[in-house]
Amino acid sequence: MEKHYQTYNVDCRDGIKEIAGDSIDFIVTDPPYFIDGMGSDWDDKKLKKKASKSGVVGGLPVGMKFDRAQGEDLQKFLEPLCAEFYRVLKPGAFCVVFSQGRLYHRAAMALDMAGFEIRDMLGWKYEGQPKAFSQDHFIRKDKNLSESEKEKLIAELDGLKTPQLKPQIEPMALAQKPKEGTFVENWKKYQVGLMNTKVSLDGMFPGTIMDVSKKVRRDESDIKIDHMTIKPVCLISHLIKLFTKEGQVVFDPFLGSGSHGVAAIAANRKFIGFEIERKYFDIANKRLDKADSSADLFATVR
Ligand SMILES: C[S@@+](CC[C@H](N)C(=O)[O-])C[C@H]1O[C@@H](n2cnc3c(N)ncnc32)[C@H](O)[C@@H]1O
Repeated sequence: MEKHYQTYNVDCRDGIKEIAGDSIDFIVTDPPYFIDGMGSDWDDKKLKKKASKSGVVGGLPVGMKFDRAQGEDLQKFLEPLCAEFYRVLKPGAFCVVFSQGRLYHRAAMALDMAGFEIRDMLGWKYEGQPKAFSQDHFIRKDKNLSESEKEKLIAELDGLKTPQLKPQIEPMALAQKPKEGTFVENWKKYQVGLMNTKVSLDGMFPGTIMDVSKKVRRDESDIKIDHMTIKPVCLISHLIKLFTKEGQVVFDPFLGSGSHGVAAIAANRKFIGFEIERKYFDIANKRLDKADSSADLFATVR
């Protein structure tokens, strides 16, 4: 049986150069975030060690330390890549890049500077865990304060915590490569550039906030996946169905555990994915193989 996906164990910055211009129908991707050392050199061991520590890094929990350089590094990493996204996408095609609240603007700027039109900010809504913490511990340890001063300060700061609202939304930049002529002219030539409004997550007109409940996500965990930032397949499938037709080509340069590929195959699309880490590449291939052998692919493609 013909395989409907191609995956490569490469650095996407090299791999993407092999893709022909104006050949991809949709990019949906979730790049590394550059938080507290989680940079472009995605080191699985370091990442796990950091995340497993419930302690603090420089006064804030892992992932929440504010450092302007993280955003700058992320943008520098994404700028040349977004220029490549622009090159490989068909005119009028869409690109969705996942980010997080405090780094979203960096991803949007990288896309903007590459020539994309920023169409919107989308949000995946989920049930977050509160991460803010009180200062009691630091006050108790302060050798410059007497016991009564400590008790007074702790009482004064009752309820006051570090500035981290419970995260409940993951933003995505929705960008479009400028189309050639009108929407209809572009569609006739490239079959992209319009959105399918018959697709819905909740029975309503598709909106910018995509609510994917825990129950839906749990139902998807058919195999045990060892990856820290897995995206729900139904969310990616929804995005793919909104912005592409059956049989079109979806590309994810940061494959991870392969959720975007599984979503593309389940939606009867073709898929290309890159992953730098051998371990994740193998996990992704296993999932993609399974999806490809069970999907009723292209049954409805004319
Ligand atoms: C945020 S995760 C993607 C998770 C994915 N959306 C999922 O649902 O499993 C980013 C992935 O990009 C990979 N990565 C980091 N830098 C890369 C690069 N330069 N080229 C290709 N993959 C890279 C990491 O190993 C990691 O698996």
